Amino acid sequence: MSILPSAEQVRSIANEYGTPTFVYDEQALENRAREALAFPHAFGLTVRYAMKANPNGVILQLFDKLGLHIDASSGFEAERALIAGIDASKIQLTAQELPGNLRKLVRNGVLFNACSLHQLEVIAKLSPTSAISIRVNPGQGSGAHAKVNVGGSMSSFGIWHKHLSKAKKIILEKKLRVERFHSHIGSGTDPHVWQQVARITLNLVKHFPDVHTVNLGGGFKVARIVGEQQTDLQSCGRAIKQEIDRFYRETGRRLHLEIEPGTFLTANTGWILARIIDVVETDTQSFIKIDSGMTENTRPALYGSQHPIVVIPIIPIDDTSRKKKKYLVVGHCCENGDRWTVKKGDGDTGEPRQLHEAGIGDLLLCGGTGAYCSSMSTKNYNSFPEAAEVMIKKDGVVQLMRRRQTLKQIVQ
Ligand SMILES: Cc1ncc(COP(=O)(O)O)c(C=O)c1O
Repeated sequence: MSILPSAEQVRSIANEYGTPTFVYDEQALENRAREALAFPHAFGLTVRYAMKANPNGVILQLFDKLGLHIDASSGFEAERALIAGIDASKIQLTAQELPGNLRKLVRNGVLFNACSLHQLEVIAKLSPTSAISIRVNPGQGSGAHAKVNVGGSMSSFGIWHKHLSKAKKIILEKKLRVERFHSHIGSGTDPHVWQQVARITLNLVKHFPDVHTVNLGGGFKVARIVGEQQTDLQSCGRAIKQEIDRFYRETGRRLHLEIEPGTFLTANTGWILARIIDVVETDTQSFIKIDSGMTENTRPALYGSQHPIVVIPIIPIDDTSRKKKKYLVVGHCCENGDRWTVKKGDGDTGEPRQLHEAGIGDLLLCGGTGAYCSSMSTKNYNSFPEAAEVMIKKDGVVQLMRRRQTLKQIVQ
């Protein structure tokens, strides 16, 4: 779970940068990167950061410095990584939509991962090299919510495993060489299913003799809130290492391993700092209203995701003298579904949470929001500007990572 910034630091950030503001922790980001880089492997490891989780350039640069590569999910993301100074050869593009500038990206050295038979045909025409990567849908998926399960027959991601013979025909005809093989089956994946699919993927790799690198995707579970399970990367990786060792014994081929987590690297490294703008009551319920909501974190409404929430009094008071009360925490949007306290897995049902008694003007922190929040929210709904983003550096200094959006920028 996220490490809570001090109340004093929170008040000072609210004063200096306003609210709502995303607050990230540099030390936590670094720790997570090092944990991912320690993933067990047999013949080499590359960790790609799935930048869709949080594409802020400061985070990309930090991970780049620590030795991570990039998984980009659109041409725009690939360009964004290039703008942040990431070397093209470290970026792999795995996209549902082919970008207009694909030719330029691949000619500059961005790696391309063909996710369908059509994409395979297109890349055969564009690529200056015959070496390619393919993404397979291995026939099985797993995710914390149906919306983030991207494997199996009801999911459109990757070349369906039963169509690999069709892919081979195109590969042969177009004189391509599959050197990299990829599967990613969902976010918040059950570790057993992840391992099972890794085995299925390795069996499929046997039919592609030129493959030297296998990418098993991301999707590692993280515990954002008490009671949630977290994938143990070491034990998960040890099982995969055994499979890669076995593959070597059976085929004599030494496979380089790639993983590409997003959530694992950033989710528990960030908080949203909001201000309490109102406290209202009905016959049955007390509500805290904040100057944030689905505009910064849509995960509760979308997935029924639960995040830690802490009320920080604007004037310092002794914690022991603070009373507790059950509240629904609701956002500033004109939408009854704009809530941060919901039933687990059911974004349509609000669930009151026991919190410290709150007053108008107090501050509120929402944790576990370093991934898929700033990058994936209903931004600009009700014309609320995109929030500022700051980083608490290792030396305690607060760095501005993104300015709050202006109305002029919204209407441009
Ligand atoms: C291709 C691919 N790789 C990696 C990821 C990262 O997944 P997670 O953030 O669950 O680790 C995603 C997420 O959707 C993805 O689509």
